[in-house]
Amino acid sequence: MWEPKQIMMNGELLPFEDARLHPLSLAVTYATTVFEGVRAYQIPDAGTFAFFRLAEHVRRLQAGMKLMRFEQIYDVEFLQDCLTRLVQANEPDSDVYIRLLVYVEGTGLLKTCGPVGFTAAAMPRKKPIFAETGMSLGVSSWQRLSDNSSPPRIKCTANYHNARLTMLQAKSDGYDGALMLTADGKVSEAPIACFFMVRDGQLITPDKTSNILESITRETIITRYKELTGNAVEERVVDRSELYFAEEAFLCGTGQEILPVTSIDRLPVGDGVVGPLTSQLRQDYFDIVRGVSDEHPEWRTVI
Ligand SMILES: Cc1ncc(COP(=O)(O)O)c(C=O)c1O
Repeated sequence: MWEPKQIMMNGELLPFEDARLHPLSLAVTYATTVFEGVRAYQIPDAGTFAFFRLAEHVRRLQAGMKLMRFEQIYDVEFLQDCLTRLVQANEPDSDVYIRLLVYVEGTGLLKTCGPVGFTAAAMPRKKPIFAETGMSLGVSSWQRLSDNSSPPRIKCTANYHNARLTMLQAKSDGYDGALMLTADGKVSEAPIACFFMVRDGQLITPDKTSNILESITRETIITRYKELTGNAVEERVVDRSELYFAEEAFLCGTGQEILPVTSIDRLPVGDGVVGPLTSQLRQDYFDIVRGVSDEHPEWRTVI
Protein backbone atom coordinates (compact mmCIF):
# COMPACT_ATOMS: atom_id res chain seq x y z
CA MET A 1 0.00 0.00 0.00
CA TRP A 2 1.27 3.53 -0.80
CA GLU A 3 2.55 5.79 1.96
CA PRO A 4 2.14 9.56 2.41
CA LYS A 5 5.13 11.39 0.92
CA GLN A 6 4.19 15.05 0.97
CA ILE A 7 2.03 17.10 3.32
CA MET A 8 0.67 20.58 2.61
CA MET A 9 0.91 23.52 5.00
CA ASN A 10 -0.52 26.91 3.99
CA GLY A 11 -0.41 25.97 0.30
CA GLU A 12 3.21 24.68 0.30
CA LEU A 13 4.10 21.02 -0.14
CA LEU A 14 6.79 19.63 2.15
CA PRO A 15 8.04 16.18 3.19
CA PHE A 16 5.42 14.46 5.40
CA GLU A 17 7.70 14.23 8.45
CA ASP A 18 8.68 17.92 8.29
CA ALA A 19 5.27 19.36 9.31
CA ARG A 20 5.54 21.71 12.34
CA LEU A 21 3.11 23.78 14.43
CA HIS A 22 3.99 25.82 17.54
CA PRO A 23 2.80 24.12 20.77
CA LEU A 24 1.58 27.49 22.06
CA SER A 25 -0.60 28.10 19.00
CA LEU A 26 -4.31 28.46 19.82
CA ALA A 27 -4.84 25.33 17.74
CA VAL A 28 -2.98 23.29 20.36
CA THR A 29 -3.80 25.19 23.55
CA TYR A 30 -7.53 25.80 23.00
CA ALA A 31 -8.31 23.33 20.17
CA THR A 32 -9.09 26.28 17.89
CA THR A 33 -9.37 24.05 14.83
CA VAL A 34 -12.04 22.96 12.38
CA PHE A 35 -11.37 20.04 10.11
CA GLU A 36 -12.70 17.72 7.42
CA GLY A 37 -12.16 14.14 6.42
CA VAL A 38 -12.56 13.96 2.64
CA ARG A 39 -12.17 10.96 0.36
CA ALA A 40 -10.81 10.75 -3.15
CA TYR A 41 -11.91 7.42 -4.64
CA GLN A 42 -10.13 5.62 -7.42
CA ILE A 43 -12.29 5.65 -10.55
CA PRO A 44 -11.60 2.17 -11.97
CA ASP A 45 -12.09 2.68 -15.71
CA ALA A 46 -10.75 6.23 -16.03
CA GLY A 47 -7.43 5.52 -14.24
CA THR A 48 -7.97 8.59 -12.08
CA PHE A 49 -9.39 9.73 -8.74
CA ALA A 50 -12.42 11.82 -7.79
CA PHE A 51 -13.11 13.75 -4.59
CA PHE A 52 -16.53 12.88 -3.22
CA ARG A 53 -18.72 15.89 -2.37
CA LEU A 54 -15.75 18.21 -1.95
CA ALA A 55 -17.81 21.40 -2.25
CA GLU A 56 -20.08 20.26 0.60
CA HIS A 57 -17.09 19.45 2.80
CA VAL A 58 -15.62 22.91 2.15
CA ARG A 59 -18.97 24.58 2.86
CA ARG A 60 -19.16 22.85 6.24
CA LEU A 61 -15.56 23.85 6.96
CA GLN A 62 -16.39 27.47 6.09
CA ALA A 63 -19.42 27.37 8.41
CA GLY A 64 -17.11 26.20 11.19
CA MET A 65 -14.57 28.97 10.47
CA LYS A 66 -17.37 31.54 10.54
CA LEU A 67 -18.85 30.29 13.82
CA MET A 68 -15.38 30.27 15.39
CA ARG A 69 -14.77 33.81 14.04
CA PHE A 70 -11.55 32.97 12.20
CA GLU A 71 -10.12 36.12 10.64
CA GLN A 72 -9.62 34.40 7.27
CA ILE A 73 -11.95 32.01 5.42
CA TYR A 74 -10.57 29.91 2.56
CA ASP A 75 -12.67 29.52 -0.59
CA VAL A 76 -13.62 26.35 -2.47
CA GLU A 77 -11.46 27.01 -5.57
CA PHE A 78 -8.32 27.60 -3.51
CA LEU A 79 -8.79 24.48 -1.38
CA GLN A 80 -9.72 22.35 -4.39
CA ASP A 81 -6.51 23.41 -6.13
CA CYS A 82 -4.46 22.67 -2.97
CA LEU A 83 -6.03 19.22 -2.47
CA THR A 84 -5.56 18.35 -6.14
CA ARG A 85 -1.86 19.20 -5.92
CA LEU A 86 -1.60 17.23 -2.67
CA VAL A 87 -3.10 14.06 -4.17
CA GLN A 88 -0.95 14.31 -7.29
CA ALA A 89 2.23 14.82 -5.22
CA ASN A 90 1.56 11.65 -3.20
CA GLU A 91 1.13 9.40 -6.28
CA PRO A 92 -1.47 7.11 -4.67
CA ASP A 93 -2.32 3.75 -6.19
CA SER A 94 -5.49 3.16 -4.13
CA ASP A 95 -8.26 5.25 -2.48
CA VAL A 96 -7.14 8.38 -0.64
CA TYR A 97 -8.35 9.72 2.70
CA ILE A 98 -7.61 13.42 3.19
CA ARG A 99 -7.44 15.21 6.51
CA LEU A 100 -7.85 18.96 6.11
CA LEU A 101 -7.33 21.06 9.26
CA VAL A 102 -7.80 24.83 9.50
CA TYR A 103 -6.70 26.50 12.72
CA VAL A 104 -5.49 29.59 14.48
CA GLU A 105 -1.75 29.09 14.22
CA GLY A 106 -0.99 32.29 16.11
CA THR A 107 -0.13 32.21 19.79
CA GLY A 108 -2.11 34.47 22.08
CA LEU A 109 -5.19 34.70 24.23
CA LEU A 110 -8.52 32.92 24.13
CA LYS A 111 -10.01 35.64 21.90
CA THR A 112 -7.19 35.49 19.28
CA CYS A 113 -8.67 34.76 15.80
CA GLY A 114 -5.56 34.68 13.60
CA PRO A 115 -3.30 34.27 11.81
CA VAL A 116 -5.14 31.30 10.35
CA GLY A 117 -3.27 28.38 8.80
CA PHE A 118 -4.09 25.00 7.32
CA THR A 119 -2.65 21.56 6.90
CA ALA A 120 -3.80 18.92 4.45
CA ALA A 121 -2.55 15.34 4.47
CA ALA A 122 -3.35 12.45 2.13
CA MET A 123 -3.30 8.90 3.49
CA PRO A 124 -4.31 5.44 2.38
CA ARG A 125 -7.13 3.95 4.44
CA LYS A 126 -7.86 0.28 5.02
CA LYS A 127 -11.43 -0.92 4.77
CA PRO A 128 -13.11 -0.56 8.19
CA ILE A 129 -12.97 -3.95 9.95
CA PHE A 130 -16.71 -4.23 10.64
CA ALA A 131 -17.73 -3.41 7.08
CA GLU A 132 -18.80 -6.94 6.11
CA THR A 133 -19.64 -8.57 9.45
CA GLY A 134 -21.39 -5.70 11.23
CA MET A 135 -20.62 -4.25 14.66
CA SER A 136 -21.90 -4.18 18.21
CA LEU A 137 -22.84 -0.85 19.78
CA GLY A 138 -23.44 0.10 23.39
CA VAL A 139 -25.37 3.17 24.51
CA SER A 140 -22.81 5.35 26.27
CA SER A 141 -23.18 6.91 29.69
CA TRP A 142 -21.33 9.92 28.26
CA GLN A 143 -23.88 12.48 27.09
CA ARG A 144 -23.63 14.10 23.62
CA LEU A 145 -22.56 17.71 23.87
CA SER A 146 -25.18 20.25 22.89
CA ASP A 147 -25.72 23.15 20.50
CA ASN A 148 -25.63 25.70 23.29
CA SER A 149 -22.32 24.52 24.72
CA SER A 150 -20.14 23.31 21.85
CA PRO A 151 -22.24 23.06 18.67
CA PRO A 152 -21.94 19.52 17.29
CA ARG A 153 -23.11 20.57 13.80
CA ILE A 154 -19.64 21.97 13.03
CA LYS A 155 -16.64 19.68 12.80
CA CYS A 156 -14.39 21.35 15.34
CA THR A 157 -11.57 19.51 17.03
CA ALA A 158 -12.80 20.39 20.53
CA ASN A 159 -15.97 18.31 19.96
CA TYR A 160 -13.89 15.15 19.66
CA HIS A 161 -13.04 15.13 23.35
CA ASN A 162 -16.65 14.09 23.95
CA ALA A 163 -16.43 11.56 21.11
CA ARG A 164 -13.15 10.12 22.37
CA LEU A 165 -14.40 9.58 25.93
CA THR A 166 -17.38 7.75 24.46
CA MET A 167 -15.19 5.60 22.21
CA LEU A 168 -12.82 4.70 25.05
CA GLN A 169 -15.70 3.68 27.29
CA ALA A 170 -17.18 1.49 24.55
CA LYS A 171 -13.84 -0.21 24.10
CA SER A 172 -13.38 -0.91 27.80
CA ASP A 173 -16.99 -2.19 28.00
CA GLY A 174 -16.29 -4.66 25.18
CA TYR A 175 -18.35 -3.03 22.38
CA ASP A 176 -17.13 -2.29 18.86
CA GLY A 177 -18.64 1.20 19.05
CA ALA A 178 -21.08 3.44 20.88
CA LEU A 179 -24.17 5.58 20.51
CA MET A 180 -24.55 8.80 22.44
CA LEU A 181 -27.78 10.22 23.83
CA THR A 182 -28.68 13.90 24.14
CA ALA A 183 -29.28 15.56 27.51
CA ASP A 184 -32.98 14.64 27.00
CA GLY A 185 -32.08 10.98 26.61
CA LYS A 186 -32.81 10.90 22.85
CA VAL A 187 -30.58 9.11 20.35
CA SER A 188 -27.94 11.40 18.84
CA GLU A 189 -25.06 9.78 16.94
CA ALA A 190 -21.91 7.68 17.23
CA PRO A 191 -18.53 9.28 18.06
CA ILE A 192 -17.49 9.61 14.40
CA ALA A 193 -20.57 8.63 12.41
CA CYS A 194 -24.32 9.19 12.08
CA PHE A 195 -26.96 6.58 12.86
CA PHE A 196 -29.80 5.09 10.81
CA MET A 197 -32.27 2.34 11.75
CA VAL A 198 -35.17 0.54 10.13
CA ARG A 199 -38.38 0.10 12.07
CA ASP A 200 -41.54 -1.39 10.56
CA GLY A 201 -39.83 -1.17 7.18
CA GLN A 202 -39.25 2.59 7.50
CA LEU A 203 -35.77 4.14 7.43
CA ILE A 204 -35.31 6.55 10.35
CA THR A 205 -32.47 8.84 11.46
CA PRO A 206 -32.18 11.35 14.34
CA ASP A 207 -33.00 14.85 13.08
CA LYS A 208 -30.49 17.71 12.81
CA THR A 209 -31.51 19.13 16.19
CA SER A 210 -30.49 15.89 17.95
CA ASN A 211 -26.99 17.32 18.43
CA ILE A 212 -25.48 15.55 15.42
CA LEU A 213 -22.81 16.66 12.99
CA GLU A 214 -24.48 17.80 9.76
CA SER A 215 -23.09 14.76 7.97
CA ILE A 216 -22.59 14.71 4.22
CA THR A 217 -22.92 10.92 4.03
CA ARG A 218 -26.20 11.11 5.99
CA GLU A 219 -27.49 13.60 3.43
CA THR A 220 -26.28 11.36 0.57
CA ILE A 221 -28.23 8.41 2.02
CA ILE A 222 -31.36 10.50 2.55
CA THR A 223 -31.20 11.58 -1.11
CA ARG A 224 -30.47 8.12 -2.51
CA TYR A 225 -33.09 6.35 -0.37
CA LYS A 226 -35.76 8.67 -1.78
CA GLU A 227 -34.51 8.12 -5.34
CA LEU A 228 -34.29 4.33 -4.96
CA THR A 229 -37.53 3.66 -3.05
CA GLY A 230 -39.71 6.72 -3.57
CA ASN A 231 -40.00 7.06 0.22
CA ALA A 232 -38.58 9.78 2.43
CA VAL A 233 -36.29 8.95 5.34
CA GLU A 234 -38.01 9.86 8.64
CA GLU A 235 -35.77 12.50 10.22
CA ARG A 236 -37.05 12.78 13.76
CA VAL A 237 -36.37 12.47 17.46
CA VAL A 238 -35.56 8.82 18.28
CA ASP A 239 -36.19 7.32 21.73
CA ARG A 240 -33.59 5.00 23.24
CA SER A 241 -36.06 2.11 23.59
CA GLU A 242 -36.76 2.22 19.84
CA LEU A 243 -33.20 1.02 19.30
CA TYR A 244 -34.19 -2.39 20.65
CA PHE A 245 -37.04 -2.78 18.14
CA ALA A 246 -34.96 -1.97 15.06
CA GLU A 247 -34.99 -4.48 12.20
CA GLU A 248 -31.77 -3.07 10.75
CA ALA A 249 -29.28 -0.41 11.74
CA PHE A 250 -26.10 1.14 10.36
CA LEU A 251 -23.60 3.94 10.90
CA CYS A 252 -22.41 6.24 8.14
CA GLY A 253 -19.69 8.77 7.52
CA THR A 254 -16.96 9.67 5.06
CA GLY A 255 -14.32 7.68 6.92
CA GLN A 256 -16.59 4.85 8.13
CA GLU A 257 -18.58 4.71 4.88
CA ILE A 258 -21.57 2.45 5.74
CA LEU A 259 -21.11 0.09 8.68
CA PRO A 260 -23.85 -2.40 9.53
CA VAL A 261 -24.85 -2.63 13.20
CA THR A 262 -25.87 -6.11 14.33
CA SER A 263 -26.40 -5.59 18.07
CA ILE A 264 -27.14 -2.73 20.46
CA ASP A 265 -26.63 -3.14 24.22
CA ARG A 266 -26.10 -6.86 23.49
CA LEU A 267 -29.59 -7.25 22.02
CA PRO A 268 -29.61 -8.40 18.37
CA VAL A 269 -30.72 -5.89 15.75
CA GLY A 270 -33.35 -7.83 13.77
CA ASP A 271 -31.88 -11.29 13.22
CA GLY A 272 -28.42 -10.10 14.25
CA VAL A 273 -27.08 -10.16 10.69
CA VAL A 274 -26.48 -7.47 8.06
CA GLY A 275 -29.91 -6.35 6.79
CA PRO A 276 -31.02 -6.24 3.12
CA LEU A 277 -31.66 -2.48 2.98
CA THR A 278 -28.28 -1.81 4.60
CA SER A 279 -26.58 -4.00 1.96
CA GLN A 280 -28.49 -2.31 -0.87
CA LEU A 281 -27.62 1.21 0.32
CA ARG A 282 -23.95 0.26 0.84
CA GLN A 283 -23.64 -1.13 -2.67
CA ASP A 284 -25.35 1.93 -4.11
CA TYR A 285 -23.02 4.23 -2.13
CA PHE A 286 -19.89 2.51 -3.45
CA ASP A 287 -21.23 2.59 -7.02
CA ILE A 288 -21.87 6.31 -6.71
CA VAL A 289 -18.55 7.33 -5.08
CA ARG A 290 -16.57 5.36 -7.68
CA GLY A 291 -18.61 6.56 -10.62
CA VAL A 292 -19.68 2.97 -11.44
CA SER A 293 -23.17 4.45 -11.43
CA ASP A 294 -23.80 7.50 -13.66
CA GLU A 295 -26.03 9.07 -11.03
CA HIS A 296 -25.04 12.38 -9.41
CA PRO A 297 -21.92 13.28 -11.42
CA GLU A 298 -22.04 16.65 -9.60
CA TRP A 299 -20.96 14.85 -6.41
CA ARG A 300 -17.64 13.74 -7.94
CA THR A 301 -14.77 16.15 -8.71
CA VAL A 302 -12.37 14.35 -11.03
CA ILE A 303 -8.70 15.02 -10.31
C1 LIG B 1 -19.35 13.14 14.95
C2 LIG B 1 -19.49 12.73 13.53
N1 LIG B 1 -20.72 12.49 13.05
C3 LIG B 1 -20.92 12.15 11.76
C4 LIG B 1 -19.87 12.03 10.88
C5 LIG B 1 -20.11 11.75 9.43
O1 LIG B 1 -19.97 12.95 8.72
P1 LIG B 1 -19.66 12.95 7.17
O2 LIG B 1 -20.66 12.05 6.54
O3 LIG B 1 -19.83 14.34 6.72
O4 LIG B 1 -18.27 12.45 7.01
C6 LIG B 1 -18.56 12.24 11.34
C7 LIG B 1 -17.43 12.10 10.44
O5 LIG B 1 -16.82 13.01 10.05
C8 LIG B 1 -18.37 12.62 12.69
O6 LIG B 1 -17.15 12.86 13.16
